[in-house]
Amino acid sequence: MNHDREGCRPCIRLSREEDEAAVVALWHACGLVASYNDPHADFRFARAGAASAVLVAEGEDGGVGGSIMVGHDGHRGWLYYVATDPAARSRGIGCALVRAAETWLRERGVRKVQLLVRQTNAGVARFYERLGFEQSAVIVMQRWLD
Ligand SMILES: CC(C)(COP(=O)(O)OP(=O)(O)OC[C@H]1O[C@@H](n2cnc3c(N)ncnc32)[C@H](O)[C@@H]1OP(=O)(O)O)[C@@H](O)C(=O)NCCC(=O)NCCS
Repeated sequence: MNHDREGCRPCIRLSREEDEAAVVALWHACGLVASYNDPHADFRFARAGAASAVLVAEGEDGGVGGSIMVGHDGHRGWLYYVATDPAARSRGIGCALVRAAETWLRERGVRKVQLLVRQTNAGVARFYERLGFEQSAVIVMQRWLD
């Protein structure tokens, strides 16, 4: 079942260079920064790419209330760093960010969106299920490129 909260219309926009410190602080506050990732480099890399972006939800105080990284690999769309300020949760910001990222992908001809959930964060799958996502029957393989 799709579950979009009525009434919440946060302002969502493309991130700007000067958002970097606030966005990275948000990612830390949301427990999204893995030891093997450099969040500053991730923010800059996604902003620099033609096929990727970081969107932000403006907070009530004018700061960053939420963020999402979106991109496509020429085939599928992907979401990363889905984050809402812990003080502003359950108001529909996360939902609005996902919908904005989906629109960003649709506008580029992408027909499917995917994301990875860490096994230690499996509970958050509930959030995505409410937005119409379903679990994939796939095994994800990976290898670092030196
Ligand atoms: C997931 C997240 C972005 C949702 O943001 P949000 O602005 O609160 O989202 P919404 O208000 O649109 O939706 C809230 C609903 O999501 C669901 N939800 C969110 N996190 C959940 C979790 N960990 N477990 C179960 N349900 C969850 C709940 O159903 C919640 O509804 P409720 O308020 O009635 O309980 C936010 O909880 C967050 O930043 N979490 C930490 C970072 C994270 O885990 N990101 C996802 C990485 S894959």
